[in-house]
Amino acid sequence: MTKDRGTYYITTPIYYPSANLHVGHTYCTVMADAMARFKRLQGYDVMFLTGTDEHGQKIQTIADAAGKSPQEYVDGIVAGVKELWAAMEISYDDFIRTTEERHKSRVQEIFRRLYDKGDIYRGVYEGWYCAPCESFWTDVQLVGGNCPDCGRPVERAKEDAYFFKLSEYADRLLALYEERPEFLEPETRRNEMTQFIKQGLDDLCISRSSFDWGVPVPIEEGQVIYVWLDALSNYITALGWPELGAGESEAAGAVEENSDKYRKYWPADVHLVGKEIVRFHSVIWPAMLMSLGEPLPKQIRGHGWLLLDGGKLSKSKLMEKNSGADGAAASRNIVDPVELIERYGVDALKYFLLREYTFGQDGQYQLDTLLHRMNSDLANDLGNLLSRTTGMNGKYFDGVIARPVSYSGSIAANPSGGVDGIPPGAPDVDRALITLALGVAVRVEGHMDRFEFNRALEAIWEFISRSNKYIDETEPWALAKDEGGRGRLGEVLYNLAESLRIVSVLIQPFLHWSSEKIREQLGLDPTDVEWGGARAFGLVGEYRTVKGDNLFPRIDIEKELAAIEAGE
Ligand code: MSP
Repeated sequence: MTKDRGTYYITTPIYYPSANLHVGHTYCTVMADAMARFKRLQGYDVMFLTGTDEHGQKIQTIADAAGKSPQEYVDGIVAGVKELWAAMEISYDDFIRTTEERHKSRVQEIFRRLYDKGDIYRGVYEGWYCAPCESFWTDVQLVGGNCPDCGRPVERAKEDAYFFKLSEYADRLLALYEERPEFLEPETRRNEMTQFIKQGLDDLCISRSSFDWGVPVPIEEGQVIYVWLDALSNYITALGWPELGAGESEAAGAVEENSDKYRKYWPADVHLVGKEIVRFHSVIWPAMLMSLGEPLPKQIRGHGWLLLDGGKLSKSKLMEKNSGADGAAASRNIVDPVELIERYGVDALKYFLLREYTFGQDGQYQLDTLLHRMNSDLANDLGNLLSRTTGMNGKYFDGVIARPVSYSGSIAANPSGGVDGIPPGAPDVDRALITLALGVAVRVEGHMDRFEFNRALEAIWEFISRSNKYIDETEPWALAKDEGGRGRLGEVLYNLAESLRIVSVLIQPFLHWSSEKIREQLGLDPTDVEWGGARAFGLVGEYRTVKGDNLFPRIDIEKELAAIEAGE
């Protein structure tokens, strides 16, 4: 149906490979994946980028402690990150590592261009430095004398360094938020950033000489480029920008193809980021691009955190849990995504993350909530709808069910919000089901436009519940007892199969594994799905359904929690 709707470029932050990732990190990547799949399904040419941010003092320190070179250390963690994304079926189009040549040579070129523009100067840096966060802070920014992001102690740092004239961009940044408010969402974050800039912007120290694990400053030996300048550049270096001279380009890979990518996909439609790094993305990044004379991304979207026991779920909590040093409450929470997938499957984890949290807000991470959602929404509502439908179809019609003759063609939603094509004599229950079915896709589109993943799923589940209710209302088992009810029984079961087909389209961006399984059991091509298929009822002439495995097992929650407690 609708194809070639243009391009859509979405990114996640590039993660620090300081330790294995936890379920909090998967949250952002799962949202980005759902959006990328949704846009592809709608016919967009999607570029979905993720990766790892591998330089900096913190990584160097951790690698030293592990007795490895930084490269060796990050190689190990990054292999695990890639395995995690493969297990979670994350559909990224490119994975950028900041230690790759294609990135490093371009970051150096970016530094050179900022320098040639006159926006970089050499000076002496003195300030408060938080090593774990790789961030400099001014006196006023400290909270109780500690790092305002992580609360840990900061140290006084003084050294020769290069500076980027960030202060000169304050007015242009304020004007940007004013003229293009959608540049930074949600609004609360925009207000925070506006306040932050109004307090006055310092120039940004963009090089370090106290360690060497970084991209070398191209114009002076002994200095490496500040990790955030290095990291933020990934969004364009991955697209092959800037183009390099012939010698450098050979080392950095196929330049021609890559710079075509830049022309095609830049500016990005959205950078998804956690709330604590909104500042880097909405102040430093646009200022860098302004200085380079390149277009700004269309949007930065800041999401909230998954909290554990009231605090941010963090890599150190993951390690505490793994070593068994944590208290009982935390040990009943599995925060390692690999273990969650092994126990409950990818779709359950994705569903939970997308359904449970509201974009932009923090939320408690609680394993029992995942288990409850799995039982009620997935096993009960969705799983039962499928098994009841295929079960009755098999029992009463050997799985073969044809479109009712009264459905002259497919039934579709019309632009004024009504539905055209429902046969005049159709019972009210059918009317209600079909009308709801055909309205869901539009509601999902609206929610996805606003990154309301939870509400998109809520709308789909409303329809799933309505379909289950349809079974209770039409009582197919009673119709089956009466030979005269056979025609009606066929209609009812066809309507249910159609409803499930529409569900398989609607959930495809979120739970694509379940979508495929539903389609297999309906006898349809599991992967031949288009978003437009959710906007028409009565599309399939004949179903040949097969009863298959349950989509989701029901979990005995008490037993499961006890097993986890016992380390099983
Ligand atoms: N390397 C930088 C990002 C550079 S982007 C140019 C970084 N890395 S990080 O690994 O520390 O964090 C990556 C992302 O994970 C951030 O957006 C952060 O908000 C997110 N999360 C880390 N813990 C999280 C939760 N507990 N909950 C939700 N998101 C979390 O910052």
